[in-house]
Amino acid sequence: MLRKDMTVEEAVMENKDVMPKLADMGIDYNLVAMENLNDALGEKNIDFDRFVEEIEGPNIYKEVEQFRDKSIEEIIKHIVTVIHPYELDMVEQIDSGFRKTIKKYYKERGEQLFVIYEIVLLIKAELVSHFSSEEEFEFKEALKGKEVDFENLIAEHEKTIGLFDRIKVLTHSYNLNTEISEIKELEDKMKTLDTHMRKHIYLENEILFKK
Ligand SMILES: [Fe+2]
Ligand SMILES: [Fe+2]
Repeated sequence: MLRKDMTVEEAVMENKDVMPKLADMGIDYNLVAMENLNDALGEKNIDFDRFVEEIEGPNIYKEVEQFRDKSIEEIIKHIVTVIHPYELDMVEQIDSGFRKTIKKYYKERGEQLFVIYEIVLLIKAELVSHFSSEEEFEFKEALKGKEVDFENLIAEHEKTIGLFDRIKVLTHSYNLNTEISEIKELEDKMKTLDTHMRKHIYLENEILFKK
């Protein structure tokens, strides 16, 4: 992810699309490599947020940033009472949707749906275990004011994102090119959960675990 405090050189190493984009905008990399990215863009009257959006797509994490000023207690409460129950309910709905849809459209789409469904189940199992660990262990310790090692959770986040990335590839970014309403509904729900999950992980990795 590109950040305002990066140098141009760091931004180029972070994302391969930065270099051609700079060239497009008439910025000579060699002259600004050591400069701060935000400043280098500012000199050409280019808005930082717009630049990032053109490279990374709309910033889904912007609204998560509001949690930066909140306390550890408030953030954990929100995760445990709002985010975790919502995502568990969503994955449950997706699971039952797949079961019904695979049966109903077995001949036409059964095999294709099954491959995606297998990964949905891996995600479901991962979330059940991961949320339990957070709620019963790491978050409790953090609320007691203890130093908590979040390394394990961060590794599990990586794994979950990897599973969503696989679903994204298999579904052509949640577009299975179908008129079947049940499959469209599954696409929508998986896409919603994907975005929700990425924001949730950002909130934990970038804000909560760094407090
Ligand atoms: Fe969580
Ligand atoms: Fe987590």
